[in-house]
Amino acid sequence: MFIIAANWKMNGDRKFATEFARELKALNSPHEIIIFPPATLLDAVDFKKGAQDCCYREYGPFTGQISADMIKDTGAQYVLLGHSERREHQGETSEIVASKAKSAHKSGLKTIICIGEKEGEDFEIVVSDQIKKSLPFTSNSVNTIIAYEPVWAIGTGKTPSISEIEKRHKFIKDKTKLSVIYGGSVKPENATEIANAANVDGLLVGGASLVAKDFIKIIEAKK
Ligand code: PGA
Repeated sequence: MFIIAANWKMNGDRKFATEFARELKALNSPHEIIIFPPATLLDAVDFKKGAQDCCYREYGPFTGQISADMIKDTGAQYVLLGHSERREHQGETSEIVASKAKSAHKSGLKTIICIGEKEGEDFEIVVSDQIKKSLPFTSNSVNTIIAYEPVWAIGTGKTPSISEIEKRHKFIKDKTKLSVIYGGSVKPENATEIANAANVDGLLVGGASLVAKDFIKIIEAKK
């Protein structure tokens, strides 16, 4: 099924979350739509949802952390792992991402694992290394989806060309045999081209997922 995920990052309040979920429910889309709200709003989102991170440990003295079981307990089915903002600001390495994914799989959560090169980096070298180190042995085609997000495209309004996206997704799919969704400056204006490109199994939307009518336009762009 085509996946369209909303990554709200550190945005939104209870009123926004409730209303957004109501609008998505009314849409009745055939696609797999998932909302990734801040953890404090997981219980407010009455829709298919996931957390933006989880701890690699199951329980214990880890102040401020949230375990995969706790996320599952909110009714969430997914967790987003290794987003470039976490790799950058929280110093998350691919090895840490893999240990978090292993914990998530043990709890029965599906993982969306983010990979992508920074501006000026070699796509094949960086992404191959991230694939090798970020996917635990527990990953399979049912519990793991890859999000390819070129770091230079996130929140910048810039995207690779459609043929670059198609080639890069093919490279990742050949290596992993997993579904690959695209993220980085997806908006209503470019969603039709990107969503319907070859090898694109879904979209991960940041900024444009904070306005329900824009997010709905993106969902409706997938033919
Ligand atoms: P963006 O973010 O759509 O605002 O570029 C995407 C993401 O970070 O997942």
